[in-house]
Amino acid sequence: MCGIIGCVGHGTETTDVLLDGLSTLDYRGYDSAGVALSNGTVDVVKRSGAIEDLVSAVEASPPTGPVGIGHTRWSTHGPPTDENAHPHVDCPGEVAVVHNGIIENYEALRERLRAAGHTFESDTDTEVIPHLIESERDDGADPETAVRRAVERLEGSFAVAAVLADSDAIFAARRDSPLVLGIDDGGDRRRYYLASDVPAFREYTDRVVYLDDGEFARLTPEDWTVTTLAGDRVEKPVDTVEWDPEETGKAGYDHFMAKEINEQPRALRQCLSERVDELDGEVSIGDLAYLNPRGVQLVAAGTSYHAALYGAQLFRAAGVPATAYLAHEYATGTPPIGDELVIGVTQSGETADTLSALREASARGARTLAVTNVVGSTAARECDDAFYIKAGPEIGVAATKTFASQLAALNTLTIGMVPSKDDREAIAALRDLPADVQQVLDESNAAAVAEQYLDSEAYFFIGRGLQYPVALEGALKMKEITYKHAEGFAAGELKHGPLALVTSETPVFAIVTGDGERAQKTIGNVKEVEARDAPVVAVTDGASDVSRYADHVLSIPESSPQTAAVLANVQLQLAAYHTAAKLGRPIDKPRNLAKSVTVE
Ligand code: M6R
Repeated sequence: MCGIIGCVGHGTETTDVLLDGLSTLDYRGYDSAGVALSNGTVDVVKRSGAIEDLVSAVEASPPTGPVGIGHTRWSTHGPPTDENAHPHVDCPGEVAVVHNGIIENYEALRERLRAAGHTFESDTDTEVIPHLIESERDDGADPETAVRRAVERLEGSFAVAAVLADSDAIFAARRDSPLVLGIDDGGDRRRYYLASDVPAFREYTDRVVYLDDGEFARLTPEDWTVTTLAGDRVEKPVDTVEWDPEETGKAGYDHFMAKEINEQPRALRQCLSERVDELDGEVSIGDLAYLNPRGVQLVAAGTSYHAALYGAQLFRAAGVPATAYLAHEYATGTPPIGDELVIGVTQSGETADTLSALREASARGARTLAVTNVVGSTAARECDDAFYIKAGPEIGVAATKTFASQLAALNTLTIGMVPSKDDREAIAALRDLPADVQQVLDESNAAAVAEQYLDSEAYFFIGRGLQYPVALEGALKMKEITYKHAEGFAAGELKHGPLALVTSETPVFAIVTGDGERAQKTIGNVKEVEARDAPVVAVTDGASDVSRYADHVLSIPESSPQTAAVLANVQLQLAAYHTAAKLGRPIDKPRNLAKSVTVE
């Protein structure tokens, strides 16, 4: 999705700060980029394509000024062209605006502005904003008032930042799209930042102020203020970010995805520390007062939905009625909520579909809990409570370590909310999980297996029970980074239709853990695909004899059924990663995808 960076107070270095910020934000997904600097005039440089193209254009004609904004655009209204790239300007080029989100009433606004003589250069919804500001200026408003009034006329979702030729400020506002300020006023210099995401300015400061919906910020070289759109002062806390800037680098790996897969032992330790007691085997979920909920609904999208499916199984196994919903399908046909708990599972805490489902649940009177990775995210702030998965920043578009940490967090939550004397084995396995994941990483032969099937036309993944969401996740990872067809199925469903697709050209990854009834039934399904000449890759802890029917085995250590899901998933992450790497795909930025999906 689109990214925003802004800074004031950097003198001649402003352009470098903006370009660095945009490079850091590129993981969000983009197809054009631009910057605008204000210094008595407004200089705009923008290009479709990669940030490197923008850098070349900036070098050819450097914009200057101590105040600037920048943007990476992920096309929604109009194709990725130079004209559609942000920032957008007004008629005389004295106002520049960047925007994330969607302005729903832009067509009506544009018609009115056109009728008043304004001319438009792009297909975007955003371009109405600088013209609205221009129109307010023409009516005599000062810069701040003009931006406020323009923003008040917008319907839809937005994070907006504007600079004006005759002002030394950045003005910004948000509704349903994140914006965070960076505060660096220690010592003898003051520098302030603005971004859609903390990594954009984290190398300069760890002090942040999260804007809430309906708030308006003004950053100048001297100070920063936050008010409501109506102009009432809001006292905002300054928070400290707990992770280091190095955590957003590749640390020698070829891709963020590889780094993040390998960071899973540490991410899991962070998630479990202070929650799972190493010595007495107790689980603590802090001061969350959700003991024995009457029912649980989980809402999520994508990878997080797979975690939600897994979480729902955990709650049901603990005796609590629980259902996982795709967040974007939640409002339609969802049973009425009594006093159930609604859990939003979301890495970013900014996914529009998930936020919308959580708001719907709140409006119907449910208590809401965000299971999220991002402190201060919208989900964390809007829900009644937040339970952080503590995975550290995840940059690769493909979610990896955050999925593992979501599963660990949901285990902890279930045990903490619905304690039982049978938890001891699960707690012991959770305690061992980081080391077990490390063992999988150290010993995996997934690269060699991936090599065997690079020419396959499709990949299938099957699993039962807790391994069913892992099959879905294995297929999602494979398809999003390799661009190959991949599907995950509940193993028992195979013969009800999908088996027709199975041929000698379609490897089937079968997740078989333990040796119980479920494992035996899945082995039955493995025999069915084997009889159709499909190559079989068994992901197994060796408890059953599935390897007898497999062409390849991806081994995991023996653990509990719950943690086996995390371990099996690591093997599938590696299989997808190595397949994509050998096919030369742009692993960290798969085509058409974005890290954080902030539009519905
Ligand atoms: O930030 P969220 O967890 O709410 O994101 C939801 C999905 O967009 C996300 O899980 C997506 O499916 C993954 N990045 C795919 O790897």
